[in-house]
Amino acid sequence: MKIENIPQYEDLNLVTTEIRERCKDLILDDDTLREIQRRFLDNIKRGLGKDTHEEAIIKCFVTYVQNLPSGEESGKFLALDLGGTNFRVLLIELSQNHFEMKSKIFAIPQHIMLGSGERLFDHIADCLYKFMKEENIVDEVLPLGFTFSFPLIQKSLTTGILKRWTKGFNCSNVVGHDVVQLLLDAIDRRGDIKISVMAILNDSTGTLMSCAWLNHNCRIGLIVGTGSNACYVEKQKNAELFDGEDLGSGNVLINTEWGAFGDDGALNFVRTCYDEEIDKNSVNPGKQLHEKMISGMYMGELARLVLEKLTKEGLLFGGKGSDILFTRGSFYTKYVSEIESDRPGTYSNCIEILEELGLKHATEQDYINVRFICECVSRRAAHLVSAAVAGLLNKMGEKKVTIGIDGSVYRYHPHFHNLMMEKIGHLTEPGIVYDLMLSEDGSGRGAALVAAVACRHPR
Ligand code: GLC
Repeated sequence: MKIENIPQYEDLNLVTTEIRERCKDLILDDDTLREIQRRFLDNIKRGLGKDTHEEAIIKCFVTYVQNLPSGEESGKFLALDLGGTNFRVLLIELSQNHFEMKSKIFAIPQHIMLGSGERLFDHIADCLYKFMKEENIVDEVLPLGFTFSFPLIQKSLTTGILKRWTKGFNCSNVVGHDVVQLLLDAIDRRGDIKISVMAILNDSTGTLMSCAWLNHNCRIGLIVGTGSNACYVEKQKNAELFDGEDLGSGNVLINTEWGAFGDDGALNFVRTCYDEEIDKNSVNPGKQLHEKMISGMYMGELARLVLEKLTKEGLLFGGKGSDILFTRGSFYTKYVSEIESDRPGTYSNCIEILEELGLKHATEQDYINVRFICECVSRRAAHLVSAAVAGLLNKMGEKKVTIGIDGSVYRYHPHFHNLMMEKIGHLTEPGIVYDLMLSEDGSGRGAALVAAVACRHPR
């Protein structure tokens, strides 16, 4: 287990006392994290239970993926990946522990994210057609894996009914419908291509599969990106809603949809006024409260809200803010990563960002304080994720587990990995050995792998 250079708060003694005082609520100690973990596991159990699932907040959706890849998968697959601001189409060729991939990214404009479902699926089908034309495969009928990274109630590997939108999407007439059917309808409306959908899956499931293809100890797939979620290997007998036939492993992957944790108030004891503000201004108030404390869609704005408040209280920038600083969404999540990437004692990224925000008058004391505020927000996210991951590790009780992880926050934040490695260690039972492995392109390669495993076990 590699834990190099565990980052504590830089310059802690140089941070203004009032700022430290005002940020206290953003710091979660280990006892608090243990209490969060206890509540989290209780929610997981309720999600899995037949009698408790309906009311459960963390849904623990059964994915119908039972087998992890063996490494022997081969063939040519299409994959679709919808889940953030972009949509991707991929063509993937798998052969023994080797793969080749071509892909194309298409933007999903805001008016489509918030428009009608029919328009969204027409757009997806249009992008797929354009890609197939460019790749000269318009006449082929390839097996396809569809990574659709929103909460789905699965009835089988190829049926997924949208439970609710998350992460800024809000298209009409999709909730309550089978998104595979909506895709097939859109393709029918065009009539110029054919596909064979082998599986629909979540990005956390894709991440687990993609990591397991290379590493046979992988049992958890984790996303800390625009949203946050985890998928893990559960015993079929514990997944009380699983009604499929056992294909031999006795296991089934569970898409926890842990982003919803706290929607019943279970996290109110640690939520701050900034979390309340984020929620109030979102397209889904009252929903995905855990995700809103963690993920990339909200982290920059959380930091901005702290900066705004403390500036207005006269504790930063001599009490003089700027129009940009006081504008919602102007402090990007990547700024948090960039500011924390400045070497100790230096502030060049921080200075550049503050200038962009119209805060040229910031002093060195402000740089120190701003970095500390970013650290409080990102460490809290890393610690919340760690409490939940450690909960899953404790629940699974396996001695050696690799966690496959993907997402922009994990990838680009300079300390997220080390923070998690350290904190998971504090919160797991003794004797559990774990590792965090960056999962390269889980949504794409994972979709191809689920499709490939499904081809091996035709329904
Ligand atoms: C949101 C979605 C979930 C997805 C996660 C990461 O939480 O509801 O399905 O896995 O974001 O993309």
